[in-house]
Amino acid sequence: LNEKPEAVLGLATGSTPLGLYAELARLCAAGELSFAKCTTFNLDEYIGLDGTHDQSYRYFMNKNLFEKVDVRMEATHVPSGAVKSDEEAEQYDAQIKAAGGIDLQLLGIGNNGHIGFNEPADTFVYGCHIVNLTQSTIQANRRFFDSEDDVPRQAISLGIGSIMNARRILLLATGADKAEAIRNAVYGDINPRTQASILRTHSNVIFLLDKAAAGLL
Ligand code: PGA
Repeated sequence: LNEKPEAVLGLATGSTPLGLYAELARLCAAGELSFAKCTTFNLDEYIGLDGTHDQSYRYFMNKNLFEKVDVRMEATHVPSGAVKSDEEAEQYDAQIKAAGGIDLQLLGIGNNGHIGFNEPADTFVYGCHIVNLTQSTIQANRRFFDSEDDVPRQAISLGIGSIMNARRILLLATGADKAEAIRNAVYGDINPRTQASILRTHSNVIFLLDKAAAGLL
């Protein structure tokens, strides 16, 4: 942001980026950083949750970052949990393109190697689309809901093509739960069963790991 104040940022939710968001808020409050000219696009959202639901990713972003920094709310974008078809979902890709494309895409990684909500599959999906969540993701996210039944079964997610179009990618992972996914992404076959493995073909990607997440490398 200091190098390019009008940057287009691709942002992620989950527990992993919380420390980063707290630090960005601190820097912004200290006057060392400004979001005033940037545009943001989030990776994903649950289908069926609107932005006022406390487990929606719009709500998460507002509370953990947007309300704590000087970003213009109208310059923040989270995919709509109300879309009904992939054709509708793809309009989000068009919005990103119209904004000039993503300069820096922040990613977490799922225990199963997913990025965004691109779950293990037989293919990589290019564009923004509706995803059926796997049982492993539903269980991993269950901790945020009253019961497993309350976890949405579908999400809207940027596709792998949309993510790979970003000029730079920064993937963060912490904790031993992520070690196997990181090993598969870094050393395994480039294969949609571990969606993050495709990142090795990107020309400007950094995996930033703690010792536990890097434990199997
Ligand atoms: P987490 O989720 O940061 O809560 O571990 C990451 C992800 O599922 O992509």
